[in-house]
Amino acid sequence: MTADEFRDAGHQLIDWIADYRSSLEQMPVRAQVDPGSIKNRLSSAPPELPVEFEEMLEQLQQVVLPGITQVQHPMHFGWFPSNASLASVLGDIASSGLGTLGISWESCPALTEVEEVVCDWMRQLTGLSAQWQGSIQDTASTACLTALLVAREQASNFSQNGGGLQAEKTAYTIYSTEEAHSSVTKSALLAGFGKDNLRFVDVDPLTRAMSTTALESVIEADIGKGLVPAAIVASAGSTGVTAFDPISQIADIARQNNIWLHVDAAMAGSAMLLPECRRLWDGVENADSISWNPHKWMGTVLDCSLFYVKNPELLIRVMSTNPSYLRSNVDSEVTQYRDWGIPLGRRFRALKLWFHLSLDGPAAIRTRLRRDLDNARRFAEQVEACKEWRVLVPVNLQTVCIRHEPAGLDLEALDRHTLAWVNSINRSGKAFMSPSQLAGQWMVRVSIGVESTTWEHVESLWQLIRQHAALSLEQG
Ligand SMILES: Cc1ncc(COP(=O)(O)O)c(C=O)c1O
Repeated sequence: MTADEFRDAGHQLIDWIADYRSSLEQMPVRAQVDPGSIKNRLSSAPPELPVEFEEMLEQLQQVVLPGITQVQHPMHFGWFPSNASLASVLGDIASSGLGTLGISWESCPALTEVEEVVCDWMRQLTGLSAQWQGSIQDTASTACLTALLVAREQASNFSQNGGGLQAEKTAYTIYSTEEAHSSVTKSALLAGFGKDNLRFVDVDPLTRAMSTTALESVIEADIGKGLVPAAIVASAGSTGVTAFDPISQIADIARQNNIWLHVDAAMAGSAMLLPECRRLWDGVENADSISWNPHKWMGTVLDCSLFYVKNPELLIRVMSTNPSYLRSNVDSEVTQYRDWGIPLGRRFRALKLWFHLSLDGPAAIRTRLRRDLDNARRFAEQVEACKEWRVLVPVNLQTVCIRHEPAGLDLEALDRHTLAWVNSINRSGKAFMSPSQLAGQWMVRVSIGVESTTWEHVESLWQLIRQHAALSLEQG
């Protein structure tokens, strides 16, 4: 494709995306396709000859679009918001168009230095002190793994330089809760700690936040057995119910015992743009690492996960590689982000964050976040005011966990009823929510926060929910 052909096709593609974004409210929220149906509409053999661009657009429209669950749809209330602001999409396109190679400062000085600057902007916007230095990772899962690898090396006095964990005489332990995201377990396993050494500390039965008394006693018991506590992963906004572990007290326990504290704020980091929400992660300054995803509620198109540490030297000591072909005579003066994480080749992700912050602006982002918090509060009030409906967990941010509990249903029948009404809404394509288990019982998470979701959308969701719940009861 020549630059002129690209210009022509690119204009058409931008028009197509703009039309798609302005019409997506007419589409079903959940993809209405059966497994395998998209594959069946594609040729099983790769094209030998070039396809016209118009034909590609037609295929996007006819084959791809039906296979997309519309997470940008205003009636999408599932999982967590995965906003993709169009301002950030432009930055992502710029990044792809530039075709940069981020393997060293020298391979793209702008990639490194824009990243340093936007990470620092985000630090300031979320009220973190200047002791934090950030990088952009693909996901919070990678950030958590990176944190646990550093924690492992800190606890084992850099065992990786010898026989690794395999040569250690004792086991290293990790502490989190069952509310924590599955990526915490995955990271602990990938970092070689082993399931036997991962502790799920008890939580408060109402708030689902980590109990610090339980944390203290489990750490004490482990030390008594000769084990070495290596890391605590605290959730600031857990996936299921947006629980906030008490970071301040956890940080004290971590410091007393020389344990690495990683704060997973994947979802709730966005809320920290609002000064009034920062009490929720009080004590975060005493953690060792923090990750959160602008690619969720804040709305920088996926993938864009911020990872902050206070001591980059430790990170670099664990992650650094210094192959001869990547050395340059400015190495002592510059940041080499390849030494801050796992991949060597890095995308120019900072561009989408830079575009997002510059074109939309933090003031407008904050207004939108506050609108969502208000909508969640109003929605929760309506649910609570309605007979036989319950809000199950305190609403910390924009996710409301609800259940319809009509009299006379035993626990099994209640589960069937919950799944019946939520699944029938999801099947209808009119709205989408995620059913999830809380202490073994099904409930429904209503996660408010898509960029285009207004109070009117939330109100029509509430009507839909009551209609489908009534229908489920009628049909038994
Ligand atoms: C609290 C929490 N941590 C981690 C993750 C994983 O995020 P990612 O998809 O960026 O790995 C999620 C995803 O929803 C999450 O809610």
